[in-house]
Amino acid sequence: RVAGPCVLVMFGVTGDLARKKLMPAIYDLANRGLLPPGFSFVGFARRDWEDEDFAQVTYRAVKEYARTPFRDAVWQQLSEGVRFVSGSFSDDEAFDQLASCVMRLDEERGTGGNYAFYLSIPPGQFPTVVQQLKRSGLSDPSGGGWRRVVIEKPFGHDLASARELNDILEEVFPADAVFRIDHYLGKETVQNILALRFANEMYEPIWNRGYVDHVQITMAEDIGIGGRAGYYDGIGAARDVIQNHLLQLLALVAMEEPVAFDADSLRMEKEKVLSAVRLPADIAEGTARGQYSAGWQGGRQVHGFLEEDGIPPDSRTETYAALRLGVDTRRWAGVPFYLRAGKRLPRRMTEIALIFQRAPHLPFSATDTEELGQNALVIRIQPDEGITVRFGSKVPGTAMEVRDVNMDFAYGESFTESSPEAYERLLLDVLIGDPPLFPRQAEVELGWRILDPVE
Ligand code: BG6
Repeated sequence: RVAGPCVLVMFGVTGDLARKKLMPAIYDLANRGLLPPGFSFVGFARRDWEDEDFAQVTYRAVKEYARTPFRDAVWQQLSEGVRFVSGSFSDDEAFDQLASCVMRLDEERGTGGNYAFYLSIPPGQFPTVVQQLKRSGLSDPSGGGWRRVVIEKPFGHDLASARELNDILEEVFPADAVFRIDHYLGKETVQNILALRFANEMYEPIWNRGYVDHVQITMAEDIGIGGRAGYYDGIGAARDVIQNHLLQLLALVAMEEPVAFDADSLRMEKEKVLSAVRLPADIAEGTARGQYSAGWQGGRQVHGFLEEDGIPPDSRTETYAALRLGVDTRRWAGVPFYLRAGKRLPRRMTEIALIFQRAPHLPFSATDTEELGQNALVIRIQPDEGITVRFGSKVPGTAMEVRDVNMDFAYGESFTESSPEAYERLLLDVLIGDPPLFPRQAEVELGWRILDPVE
């Protein structure tokens, strides 16, 4: 799977995501030989930069954040295709320059009129940029080649705004040219949920209400909101990560087997199960929220949420959210799914735990099983990637004492190659035009339908 000739045009190149994730991912793909020689990368921003300045910015980001070792030859080849266009999003002339720039690249580097536009910008600016792409003719593939647009969550802040946003995009780009990034789907451990469930025989018989007591999906972060007050205030943990990342994890755990792993089949199964997700009848009783306060983290004193730069002292935005969902299907009726996410928790950890029912009868004395919990299968998404099975085992000795033990699979021990970053996989899929890992609008809307009633 190697991308064909193309240009990646990026808006929002001065942002954190571009610097820490996207630019390094481009380099890592090039380093793995997955980008064609003529691949070109065009940045668009207000800065008064020349191509060389932007190449320097990219170089520094690569040096600092790339996953794979730095190789001068790879960088040299990549940097030959780096261009920069300076202008604001409302500047018609700048977009006309952008159009000439990519057409020149087609001639000079054989990129064949294939353009991906990556909108790494706040959603409020989508309409202007999308309209500019239309006005300047950049979105029009009639001269040959393909056009794709990539957007990052948040896809709106509720159902109505998500629809508005989508109308704006799909007025200019056909639905199959819109690639929505939920970077959790690009994580190896998340894709492995499909392998675990559908490439094996031993889990399926117990993967249901007959054996599973409840499911816990946890995304704990140790960081605070950093410099993202403007985005985070008024959004909060539930809309920032539960509406998308955690519901996607739920969908992969709870869905039925897709008939194939093509985009339509996979999305259809996810949508089916998401449409069966139900909030508790009493929302207040089935949800919880909190805000982090000042304290210590890693030997360092840290601010509380209300003291963070840019957060009003009376903000009610939650930095921790937990909710209990039901999944009304034959497989899951009556099994609670507990979803929780929060910032500034003691450690960073994302995992999915299927907790099994207790054995119906224990032929041991109560004191022998005092330390025996429920069986569990834990999918460790990050950072300690792997899978743990917890079960009871006899403690060595003369008594029949039974205690929990773990059986572990760790990526680092079973595989020699390290996992690519989510953005490497997703960027490559965009350039190849492979859509299974990108949620379509129906999934986004189902996510908002679930979350909207939660105030
Ligand atoms: C983003 C959220 O989608 O995911 C952030 O907006 C969050 O608030 C981030 O910190 C976490 O990503 P990861 O890959 O580090 O779990």
